[in-house]
Amino acid sequence: MLLQQLLAFAASLSVAYARLPDGRLNGNFRRPATAPIVPLPNPDAPVISRNGTVLPPYTTVFFFDQLIDHNNPSLGTFKQRFWHTWEFYEEGGPIILNTPGETNADGFSGYLTNRTINGQIAQQQNGSTIVLEHRFYGLSNPLPDLTVNSLRLHTLQQAIDDLEYFAKNVNLPMPNGDNLAPGKAPWILVGGSYSGALTSWTMVNKPGLFAAGYASSAVVEAILDFWEYFEPIRLNMPANCSADVQAVIEHVDKTFSGNNQTAIQQLKENWGLGNMTHLDDVAGALRNNMWDWQSLQVTTGPGGQFFKFCDALEVKDGVSAPASGFGLDHALAAWGAYWRNTYYREICGTDDAVDCLGTYDATADFYTNTTIDNASRSWMWIVCNEVGYLQEGAPVGHPSLVTRLVQPPYDLRQCRLMFPGAFSTSSVPNTLATNVKFHGWNVRIKNLFFANGIRDPWKDATVSAAGINVPSTESQPIGLGDGFHCSDLLTSSNIDPTILAVQNQGLAAMKKFLASWKPSGKTGRVTTPKATPQGLSSSFVSSFVKPVNVWFKGAKGV
Ligand SMILES: *[C@@H]1O[C@H](CO)[C@@H](O)[C@H](O)[C@H]1NC(C)=O
Ligand SMILES: *[C@@H]1O[C@H](CO)[C@@H](O)[C@H](O)[C@H]1NC(C)=O
Ligand SMILES: *[C@@H]1O[C@H](CO)[C@@H](O)[C@H](O)[C@H]1NC(C)=O
Ligand SMILES: *[C@@H]1O[C@H](CO)[C@@H](O)[C@H](O)[C@H]1NC(C)=O
Ligand SMILES: *[C@@H]1O[C@H](CO)[C@@H](O)[C@H](O)[C@H]1NC(C)=O
Ligand SMILES: *[C@@H]1O[C@H](CO)[C@@H](O)[C@H](O)[C@H]1NC(C)=O
Ligand SMILES: *[C@@H]1O[C@H](CO)[C@@H](O)[C@H](O)[C@H]1NC(C)=O
Ligand SMILES: *[C@@H]1O[C@H](CO)[C@@H](O)[C@H](O)[C@H]1NC(C)=O
Repeated sequence: MLLQQLLAFAASLSVAYARLPDGRLNGNFRRPATAPIVPLPNPDAPVISRNGTVLPPYTTVFFFDQLIDHNNPSLGTFKQRFWHTWEFYEEGGPIILNTPGETNADGFSGYLTNRTINGQIAQQQNGSTIVLEHRFYGLSNPLPDLTVNSLRLHTLQQAIDDLEYFAKNVNLPMPNGDNLAPGKAPWILVGGSYSGALTSWTMVNKPGLFAAGYASSAVVEAILDFWEYFEPIRLNMPANCSADVQAVIEHVDKTFSGNNQTAIQQLKENWGLGNMTHLDDVAGALRNNMWDWQSLQVTTGPGGQFFKFCDALEVKDGVSAPASGFGLDHALAAWGAYWRNTYYREICGTDDAVDCLGTYDATADFYTNTTIDNASRSWMWIVCNEVGYLQEGAPVGHPSLVTRLVQPPYDLRQCRLMFPGAFSTSSVPNTLATNVKFHGWNVRIKNLFFANGIRDPWKDATVSAAGINVPSTESQPIGLGDGFHCSDLLTSSNIDPTILAVQNQGLAAMKKFLASWKPSGKTGRVTTPKATPQGLSSSFVSSFVKPVNVWFKGAKGV
């Protein structure tokens, strides 16, 4: 009976691993930079704790009653999803909180386990782990749509206030779970990418709430024109590919800026984009090949889409180009052929080019659809209001892998189309206010560890940005390895010794930070009911909490 129940339960929770939200492929909606999903071999299997207690599967969904508006609690609460385990927990251990940030959090329960740094910290410190879905992503929505009116509650400050209210009020589905608020137990905030920045911003904004923080690839500085996004790519990609991409882009910009219509049309057709009317859309779309760098990890090796692209340009008749590349003519033809024959289908499927890559049609579903669970749209709201990070061509005189025809006005126009009425033609994201409030690169706080990667395209918005020189100190150490985006969060990245060193530095920092933690006894808590999994009573949950021998005795013969 119990086993049947368990199997039915597992089936009801089977998780479809979400693919990266990408939406339209020609704006900064493309690839909001979350940490990668960490697949689990048996996501729905029960979890066995250290002392043999059987715990719910990692994929079990719990709900927290979160305030809709921290500035107006009388508006009530919404259901915020979270995932949780206490497989490594021992009394006195920390509570390790993570949000995957700007994505549906389904499939992120790998971040409960020691396949990630979160679980490694838990294992080392006897902690319990939590993955909390960020407001306005996935199924955690304060209001039932993504209209401008609803999104007014989507701000960095509301997200930070969510973390505080959650930590202070959650009644965790574990022994003593209503007595583990930050004044009673040490809490560690872990994040990667935007959620890494949120880790830093939260620790600045709520001093003393978290005993320690681990921020990976944390884009702490809001930057309007973030052309530097492409710099780590340019500096770390194969030299021949870099040289040829620059040559093609220079040619595209020169041709598209001229008035030879024949040459312009020919060039559009090189990529099969002859039907597109806006040249900035055509040139901007070529950024997709560079954006592919972001999904690389050390475990991917040179097999990812990015390297397929470089191979297409730089290998001719089985021979690869010298460091200077094959030059414009070959690169142009090879890029076009690769795009038309293979790549276009990868990014657009069978969609028409204008529908897939164009950005000028205000009536496009992409701009008008306000249905929930659309990470690209929710993220764009934050981009347009508070962080920028627009990924554009480099300034004239600096080598560029992407077109200079795409500059902030190109993206800010899309803000106006997506959120009618919210922005005027003179609106720009208020990055200055964000950096003043949350300290950006000027963050200097206690017990916060930063982990960065030399090959991370987001590096120049982190504390390891070129030329910024944020000091690495005892209380705010910075680990820098060869990683890509958020590589150190993945245990499997330890095959690279420089990333292993960053992970070990982070684990040592957590140990040190926690050693000096003392309970204040104050919780600031408002009583909330015990969190239960989707559609299940708390008595059913407690049926999981059995020593393993009893569990199997009960199940035998079913
Ligand atoms: C990771 O945790 C699992 C239990 O979930 C355990 O069996 C395994 O030994 C741990 N791995 C390491 C390297 O400690
Ligand atoms: C974890 O728990 C074990 C067993 O109670 C204990 O021996 C160990 O010191 C604890 N480790 C930490 C870091 O608290
Ligand atoms: C325009 O471009 C075409 C195709 O590249 C070329 O053949 C032609 O000579 C150009 N015309 C002028 C006036 O430069
Ligand atoms: C361009 O548009 C025409 C007319 O709509 C269509 O028949 C043709 O297939 C399109 N070409 C491409 C490459 O999409
Ligand atoms: C040239 O390109 C090939 C194929 O992408 C790559 O394997 C090789 O490392 C590159 N060589 C140089 C010198 O950039
Ligand atoms: C977001 O909405 C657009 C249409 O507005 C759609 O093309 C895209 O697939 C949606 N993405 C998700 C994750 O639902
Ligand atoms: C909006 O997008 C969702 C999927 O993201 C889809 O189910 C729905 O039909 C779309 N609505 C409209 C009006 O197109
Ligand atoms: C295992 O540990 C949990 C939490 O510390 C405790 O509640 C439970 O009683 C323990 N079970 C056994 C069989 O010791």
